[in-house]
Amino acid sequence: MFDSKTVREDFPILNETVHQSLPLVYLDSAATSQKPNQVIEAITEYYQHNTANVHRGVHKLSDRSTQVWDDSRETIAQFLGAAAEELIITRNTTEAINGVAYGWGDHQLKAGDVIVSTAMEHHANLVVWQELCKRTGATLKVVGLKNESILNLTQLEEILEQGSVKLVAFGHVSNTLGTVNPVKKIVSLVRKLAPESRVLLDAAQSVPHMPLNFHALNVDFLVFSGHKMLAPMGVGGLLVRKSMLLANEMQPWLFGGGMINQVHELDATYSDDLADRYTAGTPDVASVRGLAVACEYLAKLNMTEVMMHDFSLVQYAYEKLSKIPGLTVIGLQPALDEDGIPNRLGSVAFVHDEVHAHDLAQILDSEGVAVRSGNHCTMPLHIACGWQATTRASFNVYSTKEEIDVLVKAFDKVLKIFGRN
Ligand code: ALA
Repeated sequence: MFDSKTVREDFPILNETVHQSLPLVYLDSAATSQKPNQVIEAITEYYQHNTANVHRGVHKLSDRSTQVWDDSRETIAQFLGAAAEELIITRNTTEAINGVAYGWGDHQLKAGDVIVSTAMEHHANLVVWQELCKRTGATLKVVGLKNESILNLTQLEEILEQGSVKLVAFGHVSNTLGTVNPVKKIVSLVRKLAPESRVLLDAAQSVPHMPLNFHALNVDFLVFSGHKMLAPMGVGGLLVRKSMLLANEMQPWLFGGGMINQVHELDATYSDDLADRYTAGTPDVASVRGLAVACEYLAKLNMTEVMMHDFSLVQYAYEKLSKIPGLTVIGLQPALDEDGIPNRLGSVAFVHDEVHAHDLAQILDSEGVAVRSGNHCTMPLHIACGWQATTRASFNVYSTKEEIDVLVKAFDKVLKIFGRN
């Protein structure tokens, strides 16, 4: 049975104090999650016992390192319901999205084609497409919101019906609103109305919080970051449907050692091995091992239980914060859909009618509570909803209701300073 108090024992950083002696209340996990001992130790162990380059030596240590790399890729892919060949290791979600733009978009798109994204996306899922449009002459169309919280699917339908759509890229869970988007519904609309279009799912904020399966989701690309799911910073991935890789729909976009077949002075051919073809240069094997151990850790906790734990925190925070005078919690009222899937996960963001988001975050920090303030790399969403900035509390497997109580209590100080008491 999932118990966040036991889980916390695995996370040494949660014993830290801040501002001399205040216990750390870390409610900024959407920005990056903390790492359990199991992950930290796996990285150390790799460097202490297995350090050598991969696929580049006949000696025993290189063999061991290569085994760590291959096994880790298997574990990560399996956790996400994909084949290891479909997993391209990147530094993070942003790099994975750029990979799709350079490796797929530059070869597949032309003037007149349409890319669709949404107004609730993280900057990485917008700016990359803006740049791709500049290079190819394609057009970017952005699906707006309803009630400042959910995607306007009627507008999506209209855009798809207008034709020429070649890519629909959207987030699974919004990093600001917490909204869990209806992937099944969106994918079936795309398949029906724009059968030639590819679908990219930005799963950066869903992979840490809910079970998911690449093939069951029926998307073509899935991108994610390790650092939000208990793994080290600097490692993430891009899943690409194997049939697309075999059809050479995706081309390498990083070139150099490790991904080649034959190299001559003036030209080169590239590896047919799907795992090698997109990995130029020496990879970060230790971090990939850390990511694999994070996947094992989450799988052991059981992702359905992780999701329900997270949802209970979202519900609790939403309810408690909504009662604070002057505070408006943004996004949907938490609820489960007919399949038992939460309509929001991961975070609760809010605005105060008098206190700026940065002032709020600073006062909360003075009570030991770490939250994020600003636009959370979702400036278009903030502009569309008329928020100058928001403050966001976000959760992970080690977060507790007691921590939310500390957050709520810290508002006494906010209200005192700004004269509401
Ligand atoms: N994308 C990260 C966040 O939501 C950094 O804070």
